Amino acid sequence: MEKPGNEVDFETMTIREGMVEVIVPKLDYYRVSPNEYVPSRAPVFYNPLMKENRDLTVLVANVIRREVERNLCFGDSMAGVGVRSIRVLTEAGWDEAYANDSSGRAFATIVMNARMNRLEDRLHASKMDANIFHIAHSLSGNRFDMLDLDPFGTPVGFLDTCFHAVKHGGVLSVTATDTANLFGVHKRAARMLYGVNVLKTGFMREIGVRVLLKAVAEAAARSERGIDPIVSVTRRHYVKVFVKVLKGRKHAFKSVSQIKFLKVRRIGKIYEPLGVVDVEEIGNSDSLLLGPLYTGETYSREWIEKMLLQKTEKTLVDKDVFKNLEILVSDNQKIIGSIDLTGLASSLRVNPPSRSLIIERLLKEGFKACRSGFDNNCIRTDAGLVELVRIIRSL
Ligand SMILES: C[S@@+](CC[C@H](N)C(=O)[O-])C[C@H]1O[C@@H](n2cnc3c(N)ncnc32)[C@H](O)[C@@H]1O
Repeated sequence: MEKPGNEVDFETMTIREGMVEVIVPKLDYYRVSPNEYVPSRAPVFYNPLMKENRDLTVLVANVIRREVERNLCFGDSMAGVGVRSIRVLTEAGWDEAYANDSSGRAFATIVMNARMNRLEDRLHASKMDANIFHIAHSLSGNRFDMLDLDPFGTPVGFLDTCFHAVKHGGVLSVTATDTANLFGVHKRAARMLYGVNVLKTGFMREIGVRVLLKAVAEAAARSERGIDPIVSVTRRHYVKVFVKVLKGRKHAFKSVSQIKFLKVRRIGKIYEPLGVVDVEEIGNSDSLLLGPLYTGETYSREWIEKMLLQKTEKTLVDKDVFKNLEILVSDNQKIIGSIDLTGLASSLRVNPPSRSLIIERLLKEGFKACRSGFDNNCIRTDAGLVELVRIIRSL
């Protein structure tokens, strides 16, 4: 691997995250409010608020560690200070990690952090473009059991090569922070980068997850691989998905066959989801079509239950991370799209109804209903808007 192009020539501080200590740029210089940083202005990227994102990586890595006996190797394409790799080695007991970043200062920081954590023999730092890093690990024997891609903004330019670097049965995790594109706020950019027509609905976070999974499934299929989502989350300014990678045309066909359109009807400010439409049916549709989107399951109950088992163990994973997983696993995603109760109440000029009360009433009347694991204030139901309005008015 390459020698550092730069040094740690900036002021640093030592922080503790999870069970490890690492050196990061002095955060005070990039702080804009007590709890807010602009890490992209720092010489090397480190965002303390993304601990929850790295916590998920640790939970998934722990599930794999408990089931696989052989040596496990983690790939970190855009590693920043290297904290994710260090946590996977330390907290999940993986054997080796390759932490890469195109920045020389990041490279130097990773080397320093590996030394500080006595991981020089198991943590290999490199300084190259992420696509080259993926190709450098594309030969069988060099591929990763888990690869994490965590870029600034959209991951689309790096997805294709990821699938060369992950083993059959391995896991790829992808973060996207271009939520304005994924959520349909920037419609033209969504079209350009993801090849989708989406617009801002009350359930835009779910749309964002399904747009990202669509891009991941298509990139996988180009390498004759399929994906099985393990866990998909959206918080604050990012969407993150973990998918199991399965080699073979059969798997590729299966995952791309989940890419369909969501039919919606616009009534005032509300978008009512009307079900999933296959590509062949598009011509007959007289309502709005959003997508194409990945319409399969966005998580695996089995995996999340195994991740949740770690809640009772000695762990420094945030309580909120477990709480969100519990909400996610209670979300019945057989129905795609949801209704924004706050938006609906505002259209009806009534106070926002209690979500749990509405769910209770719907279930009593024999409808399916649950809260959305993605969008706050949204409920997923097979009841139509007419029934919902009737129930809200009767409260
Ligand atoms: C969002 S930060 C990664 C944060 C890190 N994964 C973490 O959990 O703390 C994105 C990183 O990607 C690096 N980067 C940007 N473009 C890159 C490229 N083309 N190849 C490799 N690294 C790149 C940046 O230097 C930056 O450190």
